[in-house]
Amino acid sequence: MTQPSELKWWQRGIIYQIYPRSFQDASGDGVGDLRGITSRLPYVASLGVEAVWLSPIFVSPMRDFGYDVADYCDIDPLFGTLADFDALVAEAHRLGLKVMLDYVPNHTSSDHAWFQEALSGKDSPKRDWYVWRDPAPDGGPPNNWKSHFGGPAWTLDEASGQYYLHQFLPGQPDLNWSNPEVQAAMLDALRFWLRRGVDGFRVDVMNLLAEDERFLDEPENPDWRPGMNEYAQTLHIYTNDQPATLDYVRMMRGVLDEFDDRMMVGEIYLTVERLLRYAGTPEAPLAHLPFNFHLILLPWDAREIRAFVDDYDVACRATHSWPNWVLGNHDKPRFKSRVGADQYRVAQTLLLTLRGTPTAYYGDEIGMHDVPIPPERMVDPAGLQEPDVPTASRDPERTPMQWDTGPNAGFAPAGVTPWLPIADDADRVNVQVEEGEPHSDLNYFRALTALRREHPALLGGEYRSLDTQHTDVFAFERTLEGERLVVLLNFGGETREVGDLAGGETLLSSLNDAPPAASPLRPNEARIVLGR
Ligand code: GLC
Repeated sequence: MTQPSELKWWQRGIIYQIYPRSFQDASGDGVGDLRGITSRLPYVASLGVEAVWLSPIFVSPMRDFGYDVADYCDIDPLFGTLADFDALVAEAHRLGLKVMLDYVPNHTSSDHAWFQEALSGKDSPKRDWYVWRDPAPDGGPPNNWKSHFGGPAWTLDEASGQYYLHQFLPGQPDLNWSNPEVQAAMLDALRFWLRRGVDGFRVDVMNLLAEDERFLDEPENPDWRPGMNEYAQTLHIYTNDQPATLDYVRMMRGVLDEFDDRMMVGEIYLTVERLLRYAGTPEAPLAHLPFNFHLILLPWDAREIRAFVDDYDVACRATHSWPNWVLGNHDKPRFKSRVGADQYRVAQTLLLTLRGTPTAYYGDEIGMHDVPIPPERMVDPAGLQEPDVPTASRDPERTPMQWDTGPNAGFAPAGVTPWLPIADDADRVNVQVEEGEPHSDLNYFRALTALRREHPALLGGEYRSLDTQHTDVFAFERTLEGERLVVLLNFGGETREVGDLAGGETLLSSLNDAPPAASPLRPNEARIVLGR
């Protein structure tokens, strides 16, 4: 149990992820930019969130839309300038919002000057900044390691006859973090932004930083089935979650601790036990938050989710780490499409009432869903490389924010073609329309964030799940010093008795009214009750 006043901002608040290409296009080129984001910060502040995290805005050839960085210490002209960035930070801070950047330490772009220098030959002083191996005896790649986007994780540099490692695109060569010069250069990139006033970082693929130096083949995955992506054909026992990784995370933490009140959250898809190692210990802390993606990965089933939440809460307590929750991001289908429109508010309620820091993805608060992308407009390299894998492309969850009923949904000026198509229901599902409807998804999100502000139990309170008579109801309480909030979530389409789980006063129902606290839950209802 923790008083909200004792919580750090990244424990108390909601992180709001902005995908900069898709938030607001101020320059009129069809791609979002920093000036656009700055102009929309008052809206972001009005949501009641604590921090914005911007997906990468650094100089990049954009082969992976910014996750291929060619200069860590400058802004890509597509997004603006360093002056635009400083203005964004100043406006965010004026509005009481923290700013988090996306730090991509595992790989650079192949256009980065470091890699270009490394390509100049085996004697290049930058050669060892990347991971090079001689070919296998047959002249092919050194081993069977696969790229996340399909195909081998190795590309031949014909000039030197060696292969370089890239766990993503050939245009994203892996840095060699075992080299102290790489460590120093990459840690300095963190300092560059921290000195500019950045409050924290989301760290890209934190668990992939180190590789086993024997470079052995990875075993086949016996559970692989057609339709799964090629990367899943092998088990990544030599490239994922290797021991040295935590040393590199410790170095990053050391840099953050040179400054006041900064944080990092690591992108890590691992089991809870392995995930929480990235948080470190109270004596030797590592990532402030290791992203917990399990609500994305689990089936949308009340029993399974309850079991997971219970176990994770216990595990976080045992390791003294702070929990966190995510329903979607720029790599995963939007949660409205995944759980279905009927369950959308149940999911939103869960995200914002569990114990721990929620991360919300732009547009989810207005009820955006995945947008079907015609093949000729697909741009995501992950989708283009594996056209037969139905979920490979991440374009559907990256479409422009829907602001109003005007041209391009207010995302870009009239006459401009946005880089990805706009949803066909944008005339109804948009900020302007939803601002005017008391019971819109947008106002439901705001009602939830208002409850978080008004009820300290939702921020610092204990979590305990409650037994119900029905397997499709997940109920839990949050308690802090005599205050008790009960969250009742009906995961199904049937009316469900809740009995005496919740005597008290209904504070919020996803069905827009305030039924008696102990009345049966209606189909797909989420209800928050101030208990006795
Ligand atoms: C992370 C990012 C993803 C990117 C990949 C390579 O998983 O979230 O968008 O493609 O890393 O940087």
